[in-house]
Amino acid sequence: MSPAISWLQCIRCGARYDSHEVRYRCDCGDLLEVAHDLARLRELHPDLKRLFNDRVGTNELPYASGVWRYHEMILPELPAGEIVTKPEGNTNLYRSPKLSREFATARLILKHEGENPTLSFKDRGMTAGVSWAKHLGRKIVACASTGDTSAAMAAYAAQVEDMQGVVFLPRDKVSPEQLAQAITYGAKTLAIETDFDGCMKLVQQVCDQRPVYLLNSMNPFRIEGQKAIGLEAVQQLGWRAPDWFVIPVGNAGNISALGKGLWEARELGLIDRLPRIAGVQALAADPFYRSYQTGFREKITVTAQPTAASAIRIGAPVSHDKAAAVVQRFHGVVEAVSEEELMEAKALADRCGVAVCPNSGVALAGLRKLRARGVIADGESVVVILTAHGAKFSQVGVDYHTGRLPGLSPKQPNPPLVVSADLPAVLRALGL
Ligand code: F0G
Repeated sequence: MSPAISWLQCIRCGARYDSHEVRYRCDCGDLLEVAHDLARLRELHPDLKRLFNDRVGTNELPYASGVWRYHEMILPELPAGEIVTKPEGNTNLYRSPKLSREFATARLILKHEGENPTLSFKDRGMTAGVSWAKHLGRKIVACASTGDTSAAMAAYAAQVEDMQGVVFLPRDKVSPEQLAQAITYGAKTLAIETDFDGCMKLVQQVCDQRPVYLLNSMNPFRIEGQKAIGLEAVQQLGWRAPDWFVIPVGNAGNISALGKGLWEARELGLIDRLPRIAGVQALAADPFYRSYQTGFREKITVTAQPTAASAIRIGAPVSHDKAAAVVQRFHGVVEAVSEEELMEAKALADRCGVAVCPNSGVALAGLRKLRARGVIADGESVVVILTAHGAKFSQVGVDYHTGRLPGLSPKQPNPPLVVSADLPAVLRALGL
C-alpha cells in the first residue's frame, strides 16, 4: 500500500497519527491538524488550477459543491461517493460603488458565506466533518454551539441514514432562527444553563466518555472544509490573493482554516503570494484580541459578556494556538470593536443591500477602524468574510431599528411607521 497522503499531526510537537484514529488532541495535549503530503499532491495533480477551473458550473456531485470542487486539497483520500453534501459554497462576492464609499475602501469585496444552505459558513466545515464521521462509521455526532455550528451539524446529520445529531446550546443565548434549525432537522437539542464555553467543556467530556463523535472545530476535519472559503475567494478573483482578508473571530476555527487553505494554495502554486489577515472580535468577548496585544505571549481567556454578536460570544477560543500562528504567519492584526461600532457597520452594509449578521458586522466595523488608522492602506484590496446571513438574526436588526438594543441609540434607525388605514394619513406618513 502506498503511504498515506493525509494524516493527523500535532501543531506543536509534530507527532503523527493515522487519519482514521478518532482523536481530537495529541498525546501532548495540543491541537491536531490534518496534514497533507503537498509534494505528492503536486505530483499527482500537476495542474490543480485547471482541474478546479473545469469544475466551476458543473452539476455533478460532489464537485458542484464549493468545498468539493477542491476535493484533492480537502480530504483527498475520502472517496467521492461517500461525501455528504447539499451542495454548499459557491457564495457570491459583493462589490459596489456605494459599499466602497460607505466603508472608505475603494477595492472592497464582501464574500457572503450567509448564502450557504443553513445560512452560515459552518456548512463548509460540516460537509467535511459529517462526511468523515460517516466514513468512520460514527452514528452519533455532537457539538456545542452559539447556534450556527448546531444548525449546520443538524442539517448534515439529517442527510445520513442512522446518524443522530446532538446539540449543546447555551440556554436563551441563540437566536430563534438558529434554535429552529437544530430542532426541525431533528437534532437532540439540549438548552443548557451555561454559556458557550460551559457547553464546550461538557460536550468534550461526553465525547471522551461515550461513543459520540465531536464535530466542533477542534475536530480538524471540519477545518479542512472551511479552508474552501479562502480557496473559492481567490479562485473567484482569478487565482489572485487580495491584499487583505478581514474575518470575525469567536472560537478561532475559521481564521485558522482561512490561513491553512491560503498557505497550502501558495505551496501548491495556486496563488503566488499570501494576503494579510485581520481578525476582529467584539469587545464584549475579546480574549484573542487581548492575547494579540501581549504579542501572543499570554493566552488570555475571559468570561464572555452579552453582545449583539451572539455567535462569537466566546471567552476561551479552542483554536487559539492555530489562530495565533496564522496571524503571525500572515503578518496579520487583531482588532476589537464596540457594540455601537458593530451595529452601525451592520446597518451601513444592510443599507447597501447586503444582508449582514451582527457577527459579520464585527468584521466590517474592524475594517472601518483599520482603514481609519491606516493599517489597511488606501488602494489595498480587501475581502471581508461575512459569516452568516442577516435573516438568521432578524430580532437584532428589528431591535436596532426600533431603538430597543440596550444602551445603544441607533444612528441610522428605520422603524416601521404605524399609520391608520386612510389615504391622507398614509400620504402624510410618506411625506408626499
Ligand atoms: N460568525 C458566525 C456567524 C459564527 O457563527 C461564528 C462561530 C463565527 C463567526 C466565528 O467563527 O468560531 O470559527 O472563530 N460560531 C460557532 C457556533 C462558535 O457554534 O456556531 P470561529
